[in-house]
Amino acid sequence: MSGSTTPLEPPDVGAPDVGREKVTVQTLAAMKRAGDPIVMVTAYDVAAAKLVDAAGIDVVLVGDTSAMTVLGYDSTVPVTVEEMLMLTAAVRRGLERPLLVGDLPFGSYEISDEQAVATAQRFVKEAGVDAVKLERGGTSVDRARAIIDAGIPVMGHVGLTPQTAASLGGYKAQGRTASQAIAIARSALELQDVGCFAIVFEAVPAKLTEVLMPHMEIPVIGIGAGAATDGQVLILHDLVGLYHGRAPRFAKRYMNLREDMLKALQAYDHEVRTHAYPEPEHTYSIPPEELDGLLTELETLV
Ligand code: KIV
Repeated sequence: MSGSTTPLEPPDVGAPDVGREKVTVQTLAAMKRAGDPIVMVTAYDVAAAKLVDAAGIDVVLVGDTSAMTVLGYDSTVPVTVEEMLMLTAAVRRGLERPLLVGDLPFGSYEISDEQAVATAQRFVKEAGVDAVKLERGGTSVDRARAIIDAGIPVMGHVGLTPQTAASLGGYKAQGRTASQAIAIARSALELQDVGCFAIVFEAVPAKLTEVLMPHMEIPVIGIGAGAATDGQVLILHDLVGLYHGRAPRFAKRYMNLREDMLKALQAYDHEVRTHAYPEPEHTYSIPPEELDGLLTELETLV
């Protein structure tokens, strides 16, 4: 998930003039109507949440990609509801303006509408999300409807849906045959019809997105879906070059944080070993009379 290997210096463009008003699902609908691009990114901890907010990003997803980016699993499948809730609550504590979306992990919503609603309610009550996201069409359409009926906004996700990558033939672009593309179109339209407020298109041909966009009344957020969507989402660790694994084609890396962090850690290691750190400015002082008192008292102790 780490993208291009070219070392990059991001241009200093500053935060956009988006104001501080909280982003809601209605804000996103208005942005779509106005043709204003929607910017979404993942975050998994409070430090990242505060940075993402300061940058002016509209939507933050605590994705189940956290399984791979911060929890060290090989795929998104093993991450549990408890793990996702802990990360999501941390992000909540760092956010003010962006809309917060929690990703329902594999196995936490598929069994029944009751299971889906109960899990979505935990994300709202325990992690403070504004909305939840679930993957696929098919039975997920029913689950999305049930969650929406329970009063919780739902974001859909079609195309490459990593929770079920095994049945899709692995982590590869979807919708490159007419029958696959039709299945994706059907799922997207069904998710829209049951009331999803937005939908992610992941790893589908740009042409498929272009063909579908005129039929999408809800905001479409793309990741590897071309430029025709209403917005884009990237995985934070890909964007800043922090992920240790392989890059998907669509991941654009804006900096190489991994390299910078490694250099910082090596410099620290070197300075401790060579007694260059800590220096006087990293050290606390004690008034001379207190030191005298200490030394006198110490005499009686040793
Ligand atoms: O889990 C995630 O980070 C996602 C994005 C790829 C949209 O679902």
